[in-house]
Amino acid sequence: MDGPGLCERHGLDPSRLPAHVALIMDGNGRWANRQGLPRNAGHEAGEAALFDTVEGALELGLTDLTVYAFSTENWRRPPSEVRFLLNFNESLLLRRAGELDERQVRVRFIGRRGRPVPKRLVRLIEDTEARTARHRRLTLRIAFNYGARAELADAAQRAADDVAAGRLVTVDEAALAARLADPEMPDVDLLVRTSGEQRISNYLLWQAAYAELVFAETLWPDFDREELARAVAIYQARDRRFGTAMDTPADHPDG
Ligand code: IPE
Ligand code: IPE
Ligand code: MG
Repeated sequence: MDGPGLCERHGLDPSRLPAHVALIMDGNGRWANRQGLPRNAGHEAGEAALFDTVEGALELGLTDLTVYAFSTENWRRPPSEVRFLLNFNESLLLRRAGELDERQVRVRFIGRRGRPVPKRLVRLIEDTEARTARHRRLTLRIAFNYGARAELADAAQRAADDVAAGRLVTVDEAALAARLADPEMPDVDLLVRTSGEQRISNYLLWQAAYAELVFAETLWPDFDREELARAVAIYQARDRRFGTAMDTPADHPDG
C-alpha cells in the first residue's frame, strides 16, 4: 500500500505550489571529490538525482521545471570535462527521452544552438522537443549552452531587427519577453541552487526577477524529490510581495 504522498509528508499546501521551479544543479565535482572519484563520476551520479526530482515534480503537480545543465561559461572548463559533458548529455537524451515521453513530459531546450554545440547534439535536442511537444503534464526545460546575458542580448538584437523592419515600434518589457529563448516560459516562482553556493551564475536573470531563492547545502548528486519538497516547504513559508506593502493590521489607525 502507498504511504502518505510527497505533499503530505512535507506538510505542503497543494493550493499554493510554485508553478515554475528552476534548479541550478551544482556540486557534482565536489561530490565526486569526496568519494575519491574523478569529477565526471559526479556528473554521472547527477542523472539519478535529476530523474528522481522530475518524478517529484510530477507527483507534486508542478507545471514547469527548468534545470541548468551547461552554461555559456562552462566552455572554460578543461577540454576533457567539456567533451565528457557533451557526450553525457547526448547519451542521457538517447537513453531517457522515451521515458520522459511516456511520463508525458514536454522537453524543451533553452540556450544557443550554434557552434560549438555539436550538430549531432542539436539534432537530438530537436528530435526530443518534437517527440514530446504534445505533452502538457510537465514542461521540463533544459538550459544547455545557456547564459541569461546571451539570451537577453539575442532578444535585444531581435527587437532591433524588428524595429528596423518596421514590425515593432516600441521596445518595452512585453516586446523583450516575447523574444526570449522560450517566450512561453512563465516567471520562476522558486529558484533552488544546491551545493551551498549562493549565486545566480547567469541563470534566468529576466524570468527570476521575483523568484524566491533557496540555497541548499546538498550536493546535486544527493538531491532528490524529498529535497525538492523541502525547498517547496521553505517557499510556502515565505511572504511574496512583488513590491506591494505588507498587509496592514485591521486595528491599525491607517487600516
Ligand atoms: C554542476 O556541478 C554541473 C555543471 C556545472 C555542469 P559542478 O561540476 O559545477 O560541480 P562543482 O561545483 O565543481 O562541485
Ligand atoms: C552553474 O554552475 C552552471 C550549471 C549548474 C550548469 P557552475 O558551477 O558552473 O557555476 P559557478 O562557476 O560556480 O558560478
Ligand atoms: Mg559548480
